[in-house]
Amino acid sequence: MEKIYFDNAATTPVSGEVLNAMLPVFTDKYGNSSSLHNIGRDANNLIDQSRDTIAELLNVSSNEIYFTSSGTEANNWAIFGIANANRRKGNHIITSKIEHHSVLSSCEKLEKSGFKVTYLNVDSNGLISIAELMHSITSDTILISIIAANNEIGTIQNIRTISAIAHEKNIIFHTDAVQLFGHIEVDCQELGIDALTISSHKICGPKGCGALYVRKGVLIDNFIVGGNQERNKRAGTVNVPAVVGFAKAAEIAYRDIKANNYKLKQLSDYFKNKLEAEIPDIIFNGHPRQRLPQIVSVSFSCVEGESILMLLDLQGICVSTGSACTSNSLEPSHVVSALGLCYEDVQGTIRFSFSVNNTFEEIDFTIDALKKSVTKLRDMSPIYKKRKRVKKCIVKK
Ligand SMILES: Cc1ncc(COP(=O)(O)O)c(C=O)c1O
Repeated sequence: MEKIYFDNAATTPVSGEVLNAMLPVFTDKYGNSSSLHNIGRDANNLIDQSRDTIAELLNVSSNEIYFTSSGTEANNWAIFGIANANRRKGNHIITSKIEHHSVLSSCEKLEKSGFKVTYLNVDSNGLISIAELMHSITSDTILISIIAANNEIGTIQNIRTISAIAHEKNIIFHTDAVQLFGHIEVDCQELGIDALTISSHKICGPKGCGALYVRKGVLIDNFIVGGNQERNKRAGTVNVPAVVGFAKAAEIAYRDIKANNYKLKQLSDYFKNKLEAEIPDIIFNGHPRQRLPQIVSVSFSCVEGESILMLLDLQGICVSTGSACTSNSLEPSHVVSALGLCYEDVQGTIRFSFSVNNTFEEIDFTIDALKKSVTKLRDMSPIYKKRKRVKKCIVKK
């Protein structure tokens, strides 16, 4: 069998349609979009068209969309830019314990320069508590940033409720929608979102391209300086081929959204049912219904996730133990830990993330490989044998 790729939350291949849209931009329409001559203007027109496409999908104005080099940059910009621009109003930020590291690390850095940050807990399904959010707001709170759909467990937060609470108190609401965008329709106006992060390579667009939506009227400092690109807000020559590819990928994702979600749900349901029937002592992480269909996070009790990953890799199956950005660290996942699982379960967590190109045969092959790998590892695990004897409760919360 060829390689089986179940790591689509880490990145996706560029689709043929996207590649075809990008190719002429590398060779014929190669201008610098800031140049005043006609080749430059052509490039600038391509960026404008791409901006219009993304804006329309999010139901916002084109001049509220800024292209960036990644979702990471857009998250950094949102957190630093909004915090610093609004500092005179207060110095308190609210986020959650299950954010992507591009949000968490930005908040941690702001703490070193005098900001106060509240990191909200989540329940065992990965949802923040609305009561805890309301309780955490102070007169100094200037920004609430909550991930729309989590990249490790797929849980989708109650965005509308969170934004309503933020607005009632005159607080800016940012959401990291990198995993949600292209899978679930997002109407920023209807949902009351003030700033939103998206990224191209999660939806079959090229890597190294993202965007930040900033509602008109929201104060945000520049993040990268040294040029007047992106309406003086984000300096640096714009990556025109990537921007064109991003817009094309977004257009296709929205065009196919219903059919894709149907297929992804079928794949993940089939995978979960079969896995449950074949392998004992596993936990499915994330919300059972309020979730992305393409991400399935499973904790295999008393085995090391990295060992499972390696054994699957030897058979050509690509999965991950969590976020790709931290996959080379042996730290247990901060997201799965926040759900309240025991250490022995957190350590054995694998994220499977599907695409519409995956097949049921690939799932059958993977479950067979998983069954053999997990059985082999558990046979060598004294903790597993002990746990089976005492039948210790798996979930702590
Ligand atoms: C939820 C989330 N936010 C932000 C990012 C960062 O996006 P990028 O890879 O474009 O930097 C990722 C990437 O994994 C993600 O899953």
